[in-house]
Amino acid sequence: MKYDFNKQIDRVNTSCIKWDYLNAFFGKTELHAMWVADMDFKAPPEILIPIVQRAAHGVFGYTAKSDEFYSTVIGWFKRRYNWLIKKEWIVTTPGVVPALNLAMQEFTKNGDGIIIQSPVYFPFKDSVELNHRKLLDNPLVLKNGHYEIDWQDLEKKAESAKMFLFCSPHNPVSRVWTAKELERLGNVCERYNLLVFSDEIHADIIFKPYKHIPTATISKALSNRTIAAFATSKTFNLAGLQLSVNIIPNTNIRNKFKLALERLHLNMSNIFGIVGTQAAYKYGEQWLDELLPYLWQNYLTVKTFLQENIPEISVIEPEGTFLLWLDCRKLALNDEELAAFFVQKASLALTNGIMFGPGGDGFMRMNIGCPRQCVLKGLESIKIAMADNSPIIIDSGPANAPDDC
Ligand SMILES: Cc1ncc(COP(=O)(O)O)c(C=O)c1O
Repeated sequence: MKYDFNKQIDRVNTSCIKWDYLNAFFGKTELHAMWVADMDFKAPPEILIPIVQRAAHGVFGYTAKSDEFYSTVIGWFKRRYNWLIKKEWIVTTPGVVPALNLAMQEFTKNGDGIIIQSPVYFPFKDSVELNHRKLLDNPLVLKNGHYEIDWQDLEKKAESAKMFLFCSPHNPVSRVWTAKELERLGNVCERYNLLVFSDEIHADIIFKPYKHIPTATISKALSNRTIAAFATSKTFNLAGLQLSVNIIPNTNIRNKFKLALERLHLNMSNIFGIVGTQAAYKYGEQWLDELLPYLWQNYLTVKTFLQENIPEISVIEPEGTFLLWLDCRKLALNDEELAAFFVQKASLALTNGIMFGPGGDGFMRMNIGCPRQCVLKGLESIKIAMADNSPIIIDSGPANAPDDC
């Protein structure tokens, strides 16, 4: 192993949301943090050195993306997903969620139906509601420990929808969709003329033997109606650099999207986002190839620990992402009690399953993008909490979260 994922890095006092805003979100400071979807690993030197060198230059004027930036992105997509994208298809935004909102605003209007598949990354629902669109939920179905699409319900929802917010791989249930599923989904979108926003931000965190298939590669027809959002943010832990890479093959959709970006003067990017993204896609491959088995071992650590010590909690086997979906339904706690159990008794900050919408009740999301010792610390704290028979005290809830996160 060239890289040391066991190294623990203190993130406190870096203004990071995960460790510095515990009190704001959970009403308690002394918590072990396994919530926000970033990792506790340092990015590799192959990315850090170009960023530091660029910082040392000292002049940070308006900056464009060079030909090398685009060819590096194209190279990554070819090597990792066998997808031959064209330079002009690439449109950057300061994040995936802004791209999702912009697409919704440009291509749908007030009251239009937007499909999401709960339980899902909560800004999906928020964006539909904040933009005054109509939420059409096509809940995923849990069958024998595996989440599947309810095709009949999807067909029904598609009848009155304009757009589909698709999460691939899926956060939080960690599904990596198969070619067969994507084909079927493509057929539905084609039949009902839906625009597809395919959020593929977790595309690089895939466990063997699964394979990420970009939605747009399924067929020419699907490619023509898809805005696909990728980024180095999850893969290389660069979320704070705020640059995502959207692939929009359809010229009309792309031009409209780009015009909307220009209107907001968001077509330029942050210098460090450009440098970091380029370095990651150019030099980051070995780091990622070592990270993936490390994350898998973290998952196995959780699975074994729970089986041996806390059989009341089980984990859905992940196909991708560094986020585990813990099934806590056997604890027989309501959502308030479940949240309080982890915060008050276990002093562990996880994300409440209920935040991801229907189907999230009784579940918690645990982030394992951290050194193994930190995973074990979290697990030990749950074990201790399980042995504590005192009543669960429901707190009045968190104080005020800052409005920039
Ligand atoms: C599915 C999904 N999409 C988007 C994001 C955030 O994207 P960004 O920070 O680029 O807006 C996350 C972060 O957790 C995510 O899990």
